[in-house]
Amino acid sequence: MKTTLFTSLFAASAQLVSAAAVFYNTNSTYDLYDLAAEGVYGWSDPQFPTILDTCNATNVRMLNSAFQDSIEATSFARQRLLVNGASDGIFKRWFGDGSIYEVLGLLNYLVESEKSDIIYRCDDIDGNCAAHPETWSGHHRTSADPETVICDLFYTAKKPLTTMCFHGSIVETGPTIYAGIDMLHRYLHTSKLNNHEYIGEYTESLTDILDYAENNATFATRNVDNYLYFIAESYADAVVPGGCLGDISNAPESDE
Ligand SMILES: *[C@@H]1O[C@H](CO)[C@@H](O)[C@H](O)[C@H]1NC(C)=O
Ligand SMILES: *[C@@H]1O[C@H](CO)[C@@H](O)[C@H](O)[C@H]1NC(C)=O
Ligand SMILES: *[C@@H]1O[C@H](CO)[C@@H](O)[C@H](O)[C@H]1NC(C)=O
Repeated sequence: MKTTLFTSLFAASAQLVSAAAVFYNTNSTYDLYDLAAEGVYGWSDPQFPTILDTCNATNVRMLNSAFQDSIEATSFARQRLLVNGASDGIFKRWFGDGSIYEVLGLLNYLVESEKSDIIYRCDDIDGNCAAHPETWSGHHRTSADPETVICDLFYTAKKPLTTMCFHGSIVETGPTIYAGIDMLHRYLHTSKLNNHEYIGEYTESLTDILDYAENNATFATRNVDNYLYFIAESYADAVVPGGCLGDISNAPESDE
């Protein structure tokens, strides 16, 4: 089953690469819509944020690549749930007895909900990137809810999904080292995507994340990081033999 999924996604991925080489636009995400129209990765109608022209051509290429990775990562997670159901070991680890319907619904909403009014900008309008050059890859604007600022650190700190497991285990690096998974986390800072904090960052500590799954499943399916770990582990398990979760009994505190 896994082989079938991988093979079909691999075919889709080859198609996506050739299409990506053809479509290029410095100012929008329209090339992604062309890819989406081909039905890659099993999502029929992915939607993407608007990238403002404060992002230059290189910025846009890297952001688009991250958005593309976000639809790839979520599609593996979704496919895993559709095939294995709620008894799946990875689902159980991150969501316990939580609702599989809620998890599938959130994945769908993250990818296919309308996002043209979700704004990405690259101009460090609030000065936070300059204030935290070594640590902030970007930030949500509390003063402008639909907006996310991407800092220059993003382009070097965040990695393509193709390098999954190369930088260390998921426990060591955290799931948001992967640009595509980081984007999903950034979406969830906006009240449109988190539904006015129905989904929230209730905890980012791995110990507490695992504890939610075991003892507070209602909140496991409302906590951003439970989704990020679930998506990263599902993806790693599908593309790298044995995956690379790492030692969850020896969990460091996660940082941003
Ligand atoms: C860039 O975006 C602006 C604002 O959405 C739009 O008016 C303009 O036509 C776009 N330019 C290109 C080359 O797509
Ligand atoms: C685009 O902006 C980045 C900083 O975000 C800069 O390093 C790069 O040189 C710029 N590229 C172009 C083509 O202007
Ligand atoms: C579950 O977690 C939430 C948020 O941290 C907390 O308010 C609630 O009391 C917890 N419920 C249980 C049963 O531990």
